Amino acid sequence: MIIVIDGPAGSGKSSTAKSIANRLSLHYLDSGALYRAVTCLWINAGKPEKEQFFNMLTEVHLQVEYINDLFHVKANGEDLTNQIRSQEISSHVSEIASLPEVRGYVNALMKKIIANGIYIADGRDLGTAVFPDAFLKFYMDASLEERAMRRFRELENSGQNVSFKDVKQNLNDRDLKDKSRVSDPLKKAPDAILIDTTGKTFEEQISEITQIIKENIKL
Ligand code: CDP
Repeated sequence: MIIVIDGPAGSGKSSTAKSIANRLSLHYLDSGALYRAVTCLWINAGKPEKEQFFNMLTEVHLQVEYINDLFHVKANGEDLTNQIRSQEISSHVSEIASLPEVRGYVNALMKKIIANGIYIADGRDLGTAVFPDAFLKFYMDASLEERAMRRFRELENSGQNVSFKDVKQNLNDRDLKDKSRVSDPLKKAPDAILIDTTGKTFEEQISEITQIIKENIKL
């Protein structure tokens, strides 16, 4: 069974999904981390032609594990967890994620992962394209200014040297690419519950979603 949270970059999906997973003892799946890992593989391979990269991808065994608030991704045994959050990956990920072959690869992997257990997952197209029958669907959003400020603080706290202007530009560019791509664009599923987090505290957004989940599922 799966509960999904979709929404644009920096809307708070992954921190929310992790916190709810911890509180309700659910498994957590970070679909963006899988697209980031695939992008990392493409960059580490020297940005090969796409056809060549798709062939490479068929030989890659991606493994995921959620431990102590960190979603780990390994490719053929190599841990990519720390590499996948860099600005370089952020600036290429939407381009790589727009390729139907990459989406097919990641979607098949996600379906396999969630086959056993109750999962909460965050992404862009989970409620619309990947898990249209998800038990509960949320769509989180917030103003661009607020999302950029949150992401800027996150990156600063993790020791990355970035400017607010660049972070805001990257979120805006990714949103545009994610919403306008042909293959499974970012959009709210008609049956998703909209959670606008502009001006809300983290605790407020978590309690709102947790309450809806508890009303709907006997865990
Ligand atoms: O955490 P953040 O909002 O920065 O992004 P992410 O969840 O790590 O996802 C990174 C990128 O992967 C997004 O900007 C999308 O281009 C892509 N993605 C996607 O296409 N479909 C998903 N289900 C999840 C992510």
